[in-house]
Order: sequence, then C-alpha cells, then structure tokens
Amino acid sequence: MKDIFFCPEESNFYSNCLENLVLRNCKNAASIVEFGSGDGSPVINSLLRNKFDGVIRGFELNTSAWKAANSTIDEYNLTNKYVIYNSCLFESSKPEANYLVANPPYLPAPDQDIYMPLLFGGIDGATVTNELLSLGYDNVLVLVSSYSNPKSTIEQAQKNGYSVNNFVVLPLKFGYYSSEPKVKKHIEELRGNNMAFYSGDYYFLAGVLFSKSQESANDLSNQLAQVMTSL
Ligand SMILES: C[S@@+](CC[C@H](N)C(=O)[O-])C[C@H]1O[C@@H](n2cnc3c(N)ncnc32)[C@H](O)[C@@H]1O
Repeated sequence: MKDIFFCPEESNFYSNCLENLVLRNCKNAASIVEFGSGDGSPVINSLLRNKFDGVIRGFELNTSAWKAANSTIDEYNLTNKYVIYNSCLFESSKPEANYLVANPPYLPAPDQDIYMPLLFGGIDGATVTNELLSLGYDNVLVLVSSYSNPKSTIEQAQKNGYSVNNFVVLPLKFGYYSSEPKVKKHIEELRGNNMAFYSGDYYFLAGVLFSKSQESANDLSNQLAQVMTSL
C-alpha cells in the first residue's frame, strides 16, 4: 500500500463532494469521467451510498492503485458502473461525459522528485487542475487547495467560460505528503508571492463545481476567491 495515495480525511471529503455536488444532481444515466482514481475508494463509497444509473470512467496511472481499485470494484459488483483505465486522461481520446471529477495531484514543488511523484501539481501546484479546466467538459468537480495558487485556477476557469456553481470548504492539517520538507519549504516561498494561503498547520481544501451553463448572476467565484485567500 506504501505507493498508493493514502489520506482518508481527504479521500472521504472528495467522496462527500462527489455525492453532494454531482451524484445527487444526476438525472437519468449521466456519464462521468474521473482523473486520478487512486484506490477507487471515494467513488466506490459514494456509489454504495447513492442510486446512480450512469457510468463512471476513471483514469489512474499508478498500476498498484489501479489493481487495488479493480479488486474492490469486483468485490462490490460495481463493474457495470465504474471502469478504470491504467492510463493518462490527457493522452487518451477523451470520453464524452456530463462531468469531469478529480481529486487531482496538487502538490507544489520545484520538481517532481518528491515522496510520490504522481502527486506533483507543477511548480505552483495548480498546473494539473488548470489543465483539467481546459478539456472542454461542461461540468468539472475538482478539489482546490489554498496553497496551490487557487487564484490562478479561478481565473483559468473564468477564461474557459466556467462559473463557480457551488463549493464546500474543509480546513485540513498539512499531512504526510505536504509536510515533506522540500514541499513545505516551497509552499512557504509561494506564500511570499501570494500564491499559497495557510495559517499555522492548516490550509483550506475546497470541493468546487465549475459549470459552463451557469448564469453569471449565480457565479460564486468571488466568494470562493475570498475564502481561499483568507488564511
Ligand atoms: C490526490 S490522489 C487522489 C486519489 C483518489 N482519487 C482519492 O481521492 O483518494 C491523485 C491521483 O492521481 C493519479 N495521477 C496523477 N497523474 C495522473 C495522470 N496523468 N493520469 C491518471 N492519474 C494520475 C495519482 O497516481 C493519484 O492516485
């Protein structure tokens, strides 16, 4: 398990966001694409708690995580609802879907040589997240961290025609991966450039639903920006 992403607090939050911001609003047989499924537990848990008639197609590069996910999917007989490919979404012929969902790699660092290289989110931490907002999906649910240049993500979303449809915020303690000295030091430097926001041991993690069809009057972008930069 050592080389599989493990942070139950964060994975449970992602699972709850999926449930409250996506699955409950899915009428008919919606289709969902997931970037970075990990061990699959967030989606599996939310499928077990909700009635969902569509299909979720996940992409996970880490082969150990992909195997673990498939074995749990089999165990719970979810093979007709959750299919995971051991490949990168960016390099695939992207499946059409109503939603793209992800708890993406968002660790900022000078380079990829960190405890788990697949959690590297680019120099400011927002690179993968911002790419996910450039694939053209109508609705995108992503976890956004307050130490990963959150303003750039909100700006990127606006540039691509998204508004913030809804969001939920969780205060989280720096964990195993973000406390790695090389990562922590880099986050401290970003803070000096107004690209990372945290207070003591705590940062904010937001589950954000970006939507293209949203009326601008209902856009929560300013509220989100205010919260994410408030620490
Ligand atoms: C923060 S973890 C989230 C895992 C899981 N969704 C969860 O919340 O527990 C991010 C995941 O993205 C995967 N990943 C990173 N880059 C990827 C890529 N280009 N394509 C597919 N998966 C990727 C990592 O291996 C890791 O499992």
